[in-house]
Amino acid sequence: MTNKERIKQLYETTHLDDEGLRLLLTTMTKEDEDYLYACAREVRHAVYGHDIYMRGLIEFSSICKNDCYYCGLRRSNKNAERYRLTKEQILSCTDTGYELGFRTFVLQSGEDPYYTDDKICDIVAAIKERHPDCAITLSIGEKSRESYQAYYDAGANRYLLRHETSNPDHYRYLHPEALTIENRKRCLKDLKEIGYQVGCGIMVNSPGQTVDHIIEDLHYMQDFQPHMVGIGPFIPHKDTPFKDEKKGTLIDTLHLLAIIRLMIPEVLLPATTALGTIDPRGRELGVLAGANVIMPNLSPKDVRTKYMLYDGKICTGEEAAECRFCMERRMEAIGYQVVESRGDHIHKQFVDSE
Ligand code: 5AD
Ligand code: FES
Repeated sequence: MTNKERIKQLYETTHLDDEGLRLLLTTMTKEDEDYLYACAREVRHAVYGHDIYMRGLIEFSSICKNDCYYCGLRRSNKNAERYRLTKEQILSCTDTGYELGFRTFVLQSGEDPYYTDDKICDIVAAIKERHPDCAITLSIGEKSRESYQAYYDAGANRYLLRHETSNPDHYRYLHPEALTIENRKRCLKDLKEIGYQVGCGIMVNSPGQTVDHIIEDLHYMQDFQPHMVGIGPFIPHKDTPFKDEKKGTLIDTLHLLAIIRLMIPEVLLPATTALGTIDPRGRELGVLAGANVIMPNLSPKDVRTKYMLYDGKICTGEEAAECRFCMERRMEAIGYQVVESRGDHIHKQFVDSE
């Protein structure tokens, strides 16, 4: 079998054996690659057309009780500047975002115990009341099933929680003892059962990651059938234990985006800020490899530089409107159009929107 035949099989059946996946991940030529991206685009066009869904990202707290070795917000990082947004500040972000055409808001933070379940529910309900036609995505970490249920009942529609790696040894290499892959997977399962549109995902080329780990991740994701998959390159942060590790590559990230599009055709797949950070055309290339979502930053300008997961993060000096229109221009330049829509998963479009 040639790589081209492997790609064709993946395109036609969504399946490929481990050896095939390994060869695709390690031996593709430029020609194979172009064929892979063309197949991924074809699948994406069949499911979601040429639309690009926008999510307005509101990074509402940089305080985190966890200590993940890769992340700049880890609690041991004494150099990190910490902040919390008030409910009023968050609502002001969503109002700005609404005017700019955003119909999904992603509320993301470190795992910050200050925001109790009641506070989160109150914020979610207030956004829903002001903007009933918008979807709310939470990205606030590991919680109990009861908490997830409460946020859902308050009006949250989606939840992002990257699993980071499905291999237990690799998970241990990236996280201290307090976090386990079992609990991470339990969270993802609970979220899906409750009815959220759920996103998992990994960092590409994270320290200690092998091709076998990636194959394991692909299987985990295909089994789990997430509605969204967030993947971007690992990028070292200067104040973390992984400060001297190599950053992830553009090529590996693009390959994986395209393979995920073929394995989970209906998935919502963002071209991430991390991808835009390692290459000036990263997000465009991500879309051309099968991604269909972008997540411009809606956080207030004065806190942007304080939400540093990794070094060099882009768009920390821009206003929300600048990123919004910058992305529209960039997407138009490659033949795609940013749409003013909630951008639900194709199976959830009539289920979730009131
Ligand atoms: N490089 C790239 N991505 C990172 N994240 C955290 N730290 C880094 C880093 N150094 C990602 C994780 C997390 C998401 C919010 O950001 O995958 O789930
Ligand atoms: Fe932020 Fe282009 S998307 S400046």
